[in-house]
Amino acid sequence: MKERELRIGLVGTGGIGRSHIERINRQLQGGVVTACADPASEFGLSIAEKNGLKGYADPMEMINDPEVDAVICTTADPYHEQYVMAAIQAGKYIFCEKPLAPKADACKRIVEAELKAGKKYVQVGFMRRYDRGYRQLKEAIDTKAYGEALLLHCAHRNPSVPDDWDNTMAVENSMVHEIDVLRWLLGEDYATAEVRFGKSTSRGPKGLHDPQIMILTTKSGVRIDVESFVNNFNDYDIKCEIVCENAVLNMPEPVYISVNTKAQKGQAMYTDCFQRFEEAYNVELQSWINATKEDRVEGPTAWDGYACQVAAAAASKARDTQTIVPVVYDEMPELYKA
Ligand SMILES: NC(=O)c1ccc[n+]([C@@H]2O[C@H](COP(=O)([O-])OP(=O)(O)OC[C@H]3O[C@@H](n4cnc5c(N)ncnc54)[C@H](O)[C@@H]3O)[C@@H](O)[C@H]2O)c1
Repeated sequence: MKERELRIGLVGTGGIGRSHIERINRQLQGGVVTACADPASEFGLSIAEKNGLKGYADPMEMINDPEVDAVICTTADPYHEQYVMAAIQAGKYIFCEKPLAPKADACKRIVEAELKAGKKYVQVGFMRRYDRGYRQLKEAIDTKAYGEALLLHCAHRNPSVPDDWDNTMAVENSMVHEIDVLRWLLGEDYATAEVRFGKSTSRGPKGLHDPQIMILTTKSGVRIDVESFVNNFNDYDIKCEIVCENAVLNMPEPVYISVNTKAQKGQAMYTDCFQRFEEAYNVELQSWINATKEDRVEGPTAWDGYACQVAAAAASKARDTQTIVPVVYDEMPELYKA
């Protein structure tokens, strides 16, 4: 496998699926998307034709094709589990976009399938772990150069979201990224979750209270606040400030171009995650290709996918009940401790 390109079959040819086909086939090395499928099969077949891939009407047939070495799943969230399970059963590595599955018990079924196989097959698409700024912060925390982390102030801001967004989406779709990346950054699990509402903007979807603030505490007592404001009608802006014993650390701002216009001088900011995290997506998928060819999983595991959904469920319950909810995980199996 090391000597030849990894032949990848992708299921779910929607927005991010198509962007992953482009990045792998035009920018990355060592792997090539050779096949694709989408449950909306005519659509999937048209994407196959456009990109010169082998198209399958049935995603399961593609996953089981011996000419497909590894799988990427970029379908809508509720359908991840079935394709991840099929890949594990076929003994193939799979990169699954986040969330691994919407509910923790579905993630646990995937963990159990890996335990039964005695091997990890799954990498979850938490691309922020590959972002240069978060990695710099992690290095500073891990070396304890500035003492222990005590408090984190974070923000997740979007220009706007579709009209069908409701209160559940702020946690389950947007702040899940913080739930994963901050657990990784601090290297510890959460103890409690809480979600509080401020005054709501009048400019978002009717069913969405926006902004919301999620408050997490870790097992050692680090306290984290995350603002989710997804209809700021401005820019896509991700912030992470860490108050340590001896310093305050801030994630670096992206390098924006300077713009002089209408007698004002300023910067053109990003408006979506694909601009902001382009490099992270590339590094993430290159790392997955490299690790897969070396017969191992290197990035966020199925257990990380499970842990994220446990905390997200607690945060959702906290939001609905306006209480502080404990985050309770099952015990981590040996397979995931290495
Ligand atoms: N890591 C990130 O930053 C990031 C960013 C965007 C999306 N995502 C994730 O990627 C996944 C896809 O998101 P998207 O924005 O491309 O969505 P999308 O709606 O553009 O595409 C989803 C695809 O799922 C397919 N689908 C629809 N019904 C299905 C079914 N019954 N079974 C299987 N597939 C079905 C659709 O045909 C479509 O091609 C989601 O899980 C999302 O959370 C991750």
